[in-house]
Amino acid sequence: MVEKRFIVVTDNETRFNELSDALKSTGTSVWLHWNTDLLAQLVGSLGTDIVFVDFIGDNAERAAELTRSLLVVYPRLWVVGFSHRADSALILEAMRAGARDFIELQSPMDALRTVKAILEQSPALPAQPSGKLITILGARPGIGTTTAAMHLSLLLKQEYLPDQPILLLDFGYPSGDAALYLDTKVAFNFCDAVRSLRRFDQALLNTAFAHHKSGLAIMSLPQNLADLRDITPTDAMTMLSLLKSYFKVVVVDLGGFAGLDLLLYALGISDHIELVCEQSLPSVYSARQLLMNLRERGFDTEQIGLLTGKYDTRIDLAPAQIAQNLQIRLDGNLPQRTDKMIACANIGKPLLEVAPKDPYLNVLRGIAADLAKGTGAKVQGPIQNATIFERYFS
Ligand SMILES: Nc1ncnc2c1ncn2[C@@H]1O[C@H](COP(=O)(O)OP(=O)(O)OP(=O)(O)O)[C@@H](O)[C@H]1O
Ligand SMILES: [Mg+2]
Repeated sequence: MVEKRFIVVTDNETRFNELSDALKSTGTSVWLHWNTDLLAQLVGSLGTDIVFVDFIGDNAERAAELTRSLLVVYPRLWVVGFSHRADSALILEAMRAGARDFIELQSPMDALRTVKAILEQSPALPAQPSGKLITILGARPGIGTTTAAMHLSLLLKQEYLPDQPILLLDFGYPSGDAALYLDTKVAFNFCDAVRSLRRFDQALLNTAFAHHKSGLAIMSLPQNLADLRDITPTDAMTMLSLLKSYFKVVVVDLGGFAGLDLLLYALGISDHIELVCEQSLPSVYSARQLLMNLRERGFDTEQIGLLTGKYDTRIDLAPAQIAQNLQIRLDGNLPQRTDKMIACANIGKPLLEVAPKDPYLNVLRGIAADLAKGTGAKVQGPIQNATIFERYFS
């Protein structure tokens, strides 16, 4: 049997030792303290078969709360409560919060037996540690959000992390733009994925998700946005989190997406956020409105970087001024490439294929390189352009 890994959440070292002793014949236990905001993230990045949560004494309420929030992020996680002795009220509280089982520290043999039984039933978690989520926001329609998100994900897949699963989640509206730009048919949309939440696994991902010929996975919103009403917001949020554990990087195009709750949730679990804004007053105005809305809802907008869209040196309004006005950092300027972009659109090919050395792409390469490094995966570094061309497009 493969050695299992457990996470034990408690503040008490003695209890951790008791539990890890009881379980040492089946696997290794990792000790995590309560008081860490990173708890949910750590659970994802460590990868685990079971998380044991301390329900002792006046901890029960906090433990139930933690169990619930872990299950929102990792619905397939097996959480098991523990205490010295369990009474039925405590067990009920744990089960209500979503725990799969409950064990007593006072009877280590029983605990071990329970854990062995659980391991036989528990599904294998994705072996991948949690991936990174990058969100591209757009100040207003038509400024190049989708083009930026599409090329960023394409660069990650083709040049930096070719061996890793990368997803482009096209939440832009009208839906399906990215798929159109990449000439890829997307039959399985975000709502379909949410509806398959309970049976979501690697096999479904391989078969149902659309893939561009580079290997980049693509998922869009349904053509008919009314379909979004059929799925619960919690399920949609869970799906987003789950995608993070199946893909090394998920690039979300949130240009023009109006659902503020899902938007806030996506931002909340994002590791990197860029806002595309043009050098025009209406665009800056919309960006300000968006940032103000986010701040009002308690979101810390300092995490957001500015990407100037369709940048033109001849325009008076300088990117630094825009950044200052919006009170966010300037991450780069995407040069205006109107003729090239139209030419690409007309032959249904991305700029990366038509002109791999275009300066527009170099701006995104800078961001892609940083992101790739942050994933902890082995980074390829930009492959020679000629090679990419042969590998994917010939
Ligand atoms: N840097 C650029 N220079 C010139 N044109 C660009 C640039 N980036 C994108 N475009 C063009 O602008 C148009 C809109 O681009 P895109 O679809 O990426 O924008 P968007 O912000 O996602 O728009 P929408 O609101 O329609 O989703 C497209 O025709 C695209 O080719
Ligand atoms: Mg778009």
